[in-house]
Amino acid sequence: MKNLNHVVFALATLAFFAVACQKDSNSSLPTPKLVQGQYDYLDLNLPFSHFSEDQLSSAFPNYKNVENPLTNEGATLGRVLFYDGHLSINNLISCGSCHLQSKGFADPVPFSTGFKLGKTTRNSMSIANMSLQRNYFWDRRASKLEEQVMMPVQNHIEMGIEKLGVLPIKLAEVPYYPALFEAAFGDSEITEERISFALAQYLRSMVSGNSRFDEGAANEFSNFTELEKIGMELFTGWDSRAGCANCHGGLLFDGWSSENIGLDAVYTDQGQGDGRFKVPSLRNVAVSAPYMHDGRFNTLEEVIDHYDNGVKMNPGLSWSLIDSTGQGAKRLGLTSIEKKALVAFLKTLTDEQYLKDPKFSDPFK
Ligand code: HEC
Ligand code: HEC
Repeated sequence: MKNLNHVVFALATLAFFAVACQKDSNSSLPTPKLVQGQYDYLDLNLPFSHFSEDQLSSAFPNYKNVENPLTNEGATLGRVLFYDGHLSINNLISCGSCHLQSKGFADPVPFSTGFKLGKTTRNSMSIANMSLQRNYFWDRRASKLEEQVMMPVQNHIEMGIEKLGVLPIKLAEVPYYPALFEAAFGDSEITEERISFALAQYLRSMVSGNSRFDEGAANEFSNFTELEKIGMELFTGWDSRAGCANCHGGLLFDGWSSENIGLDAVYTDQGQGDGRFKVPSLRNVAVSAPYMHDGRFNTLEEVIDHYDNGVKMNPGLSWSLIDSTGQGAKRLGLTSIEKKALVAFLKTLTDEQYLKDPKFSDPFK
């Protein structure tokens, strides 16, 4: 153990010198390419457009934060921070390393690689519409966006800046930050709070509400194929055999509770307790493989097969997945057409514009 500590200390020292050296050759550091006033982050593409601002604020505590109002300058700074390796202790890993825009801001591998090349213990989650959700992470351990955004920075596997007080000092040495902080907050002071505020603003601006489903919702789904309509009915129908919307409800196809969906007879990761995990939003799910908290399924077909006949009885299993005898897991008995229809419906939730929108892209590229 002692030896290990020495090694870790040596690594940390090396990392420190790596930072110190890079500072001397700023020209080798990438600089974000930004054009003042290029993007409008206040133009949210809300899937909830039929609700008033007041209704949204009261339904979703993170929709707005009066202490941290969304501005273009704040979100622009947040975008730079999101993609900047300087947010990890050895400059290797940014938020964007594990949250890829083309993958719905998820990571196409079951477990992501952190700053010391260690693996995360859970699958990276896709990011969209965070301001319209109530809490974050697979076990819902964060409920305020301004707090959530600093947790990966401190995480010992992900970015490794365990003492957050180090971060403002580190960023103050990076040539492009003072001006960005000044634009966002009125002066160039860099604080932990301002970092968290800017990141939270950026996440708040990341709204995805422009899928074929959203188009359809406005025109009685005349843009849907027959197969997609069958899938939608199976997914959302109150009395449908699939019962997906019992958990994945509303316009984000997410849930406010955590549920155990019988992935295993014995859970190793208990999630929020008893194998219950956040019911994730299914927007952009077609591009965010692999699936589930441990990334065990590679395709939507595998996910549907799980719900159809793979659910395992276990003490925490959600009631809606238990059969009528109360003794075993439900078998849905979906036909092959029905399975295809469910997959086709899930694919209508992809928002191509969001996946390509330059305002959410990596400014260092
Ligand atoms: C090393 C990979 C990695 C890095 C770096 C990383 N994340 Fe994540 N992110 C994950 C994983 C894994 C989870 C799920 C963790 C869990 O539930 O315990 C996650 C979850 C999230 C969630 C929760 C989404 C939801 O639906 O609840 C948000 C938001 C998020 N990350 C934002 C960020 C931000 C902002 C940064 C940078 C400050 C960041 N992440 C850096 C891997 C990473
Ligand atoms: C009992 C509640 C419940 C029901 C019913 C349910 N789900 Fe889920 N779903 C969840 C939970 C919870 C997760 C995450 C589970 C985990 O990782 O342990 C999940 C995960 C998923 C995922 C993976 C998302 C990702 O980002 O990894 C997909 C896809 C999905 N469900 C589709 C469906 C479909 C299609 C149906 C109907 C056949 C359905 N779900 C029925 C609760 C439910």
